[in-house]
Amino acid sequence: MELSTCRSRCTRGRATAEKRGIEIERGTVRLGSHRPSDSRNGKTKASLTVGRVIGGFNVRGEETRVASADEAAALIERSKFLWHQRFQLVPGVFTPGVSDVGYLMDIAEIPGDLAGMTVLDIGTTNGGAAFEFERRGAERVVAVDIADASLFGISELIAFLGSTVEFIRASVYELPAVLREPFDLVVFWGVLYHLRHPLLALDSLRELTAGTVSIETAIADHELGALRGRPCVRFYRLGELAEDSSNWFAPSVAALCEWLYSCGFEPTKVHSWPSNYPSRAIVNALVAPGQPEYQGVSYERPIRAQLIDQHDGDGNR
Ligand SMILES: C[S@@+](CC[C@H](N)C(=O)[O-])C[C@H]1O[C@@H](n2cnc3c(N)ncnc32)[C@H](O)[C@@H]1O
Repeated sequence: MELSTCRSRCTRGRATAEKRGIEIERGTVRLGSHRPSDSRNGKTKASLTVGRVIGGFNVRGEETRVASADEAAALIERSKFLWHQRFQLVPGVFTPGVSDVGYLMDIAEIPGDLAGMTVLDIGTTNGGAAFEFERRGAERVVAVDIADASLFGISELIAFLGSTVEFIRASVYELPAVLREPFDLVVFWGVLYHLRHPLLALDSLRELTAGTVSIETAIADHELGALRGRPCVRFYRLGELAEDSSNWFAPSVAALCEWLYSCGFEPTKVHSWPSNYPSRAIVNALVAPGQPEYQGVSYERPIRAQLIDQHDGDGNR
């Protein structure tokens, strides 16, 4: 599949420290960032004190690798993979991606304490959300992407952080067959509009979710005119959405909620932005009891995607 949306938005690993916006001055490292235009305070830089050392224990009780701010800055500088997400790698050091994980966590109202919960992050890219779920105490975090682990450096980042996050390379369609168990929280941020089969993906999410699913997506409300508020879905045949031919469908918020009800979820939170031109939304939903609604009203039955390939224990094919 094409990853041009991600690629075009990501900071290239080959960039020099200067191009990355890393400045070192009077004992302070400054890391450039590409926050969304509606990011808080409009600030684009974060600062930290050089030489700060952190460490601790992961949920398995293993001592985690001690990483300093200098080491984190050096990792960012030498990285050859794509940075899609902006997140705190170690205290005060932010990665140079454009997708602000803190912003997504806030608008999705992810609890600060995830102790004892299992979390699945589908479309993980750099794993920024997965690492944050781990920091918040989740018992098990599985990070999934259709892209090879090397594209977004997820294995390198897991090793750097001494993280217990498990990476699996798979498509959302085949995940129920790969994982075979539901998760307390399933996060599906920035993936839905990249799919040619969005309802099949939501059917997969229903099988993978024991509690809450959180979906963040492009939406079509801003271009619906008189149909605004109606359950409409916009199809983009070529690169009509953001000049990115990996974008296929954008539902209206109403359509996304209707899809969720039909697939066996009950939306509990809906937030779209920007308010005058809604082009993105986040919807949280709980699993509705019983069989998915559509199975009670039609002869349609779940389609099961075939496993593309076998997976080894490291999440690779
Ligand atoms: C725009 S990025 C979103 C990254 C991250 N979730 C965020 O919001 O910051 C989309 C990600 O979804 C992944 N992806 C696309 N299609 C997928 C599929 N069928 N199954 C799993 N992941 C997929 C892409 O490889 C990419 O890493």
